Amino acid sequence: MLVLGIETSCDETSAAVVEDGRRVRSSVVSSQIEIHKRFGGVVPEVASRNHTMAVINVIDEAIASAGITAADIDAVAVTYGAGLVGALLIGISAAKAISYAWCKPLIAVNHIHSHIAANYLAYAELEPPFLCAVVSGGHTSLVGVKDYTTLVSYGATVDDAAGEALDKIARVLGLPYPGGVMVDKMSQGGNADIEFFRNAPIVTKGYDFSYSGLKTAAINYIRRNEGQYNINDVCASLLRHAMEPIVSKAFSAAREFGYDRIALAGGVAANSYLRRRMTEEAGKSDCKVYLPPLEYCTDNAAMVATLGYYNYINGKGKADLTLNAAPSLYE
Ligand code: KG4
Ligand code: ZN
Repeated sequence: MLVLGIETSCDETSAAVVEDGRRVRSSVVSSQIEIHKRFGGVVPEVASRNHTMAVINVIDEAIASAGITAADIDAVAVTYGAGLVGALLIGISAAKAISYAWCKPLIAVNHIHSHIAANYLAYAELEPPFLCAVVSGGHTSLVGVKDYTTLVSYGATVDDAAGEALDKIARVLGLPYPGGVMVDKMSQGGNADIEFFRNAPIVTKGYDFSYSGLKTAAINYIRRNEGQYNINDVCASLLRHAMEPIVSKAFSAAREFGYDRIALAGGVAANSYLRRRMTEEAGKSDCKVYLPPLEYCTDNAAMVATLGYYNYINGKGKADLTLNAAPSLYE
């Protein structure tokens, strides 16, 4: 079965064709990073306009480079939330038009769930159940993947997401957008021993996370030490503070809830510190860790087509021309 995926939730316009939920036949991503860089972050209106200009070409290219024609496509899957409302609507409109004109079933896909499904593209042996640490710009949570379309949440951030906090601190450090990527780069060779908290940090209960305290403490540290701090040390320390709770809580949740596999998902899953630490801890435990390939950590439509396939064969996500954007969708 061939599914065409379409993703426009933030600043990447992407289309992909995936076979049977696992084999990427084509994956086209047109990134707007360079456009938004000059504003220091994604400008929603600018994102929508650029999606409008790119979406048809990106879809055409995905179909052509898969070596197929429109007639070969079995279903069209599209991200309908969470994300920027104007940006989501461009992908949704394109998907509806294709579904209507080419008489193809339309499948609605949850963006965060599709980040989890990105792991299926790289690991043929990975099947539910497994635990997933979702670490993205908008979410930080520990999710139990019970089957392809049934997820349970064991804990989530009570305030900011990890990616969002890194992006905001990066701005104060004068680093260009996207901040998380730059913090990762600048952390290389830095000492991770700065303690940003003057007192002990608040420890969140259970499997929840909190990043607003770290954000404030790090920004205060940067302002107090203006002109004196070493940016590499600050970035390395930031990553230690931000990632260690994810590593330790993921392994404890796996033990408590009986999972022997942990996957990472979301843009921050590209982080070199998090990937290294998850791999190290896996070596000391009975858990196997799955790290999505870098190209499938950040937003892409291949992960949308994959989840679209599993939704479709399980009778989930069936949509029609009334499909609307759900900017704050989580569950
Ligand atoms: O998953 P994503 O597209 O966001 C949501 O769907 O919510 O990921 C974007 C986030 C941004 O916060 C970006 O700074 C962060 O992922 N990011 C990274 C890295 N690459 C992307 N953060 C830390 N290290 C990286 N290498
Ligand atoms: Zn995303």
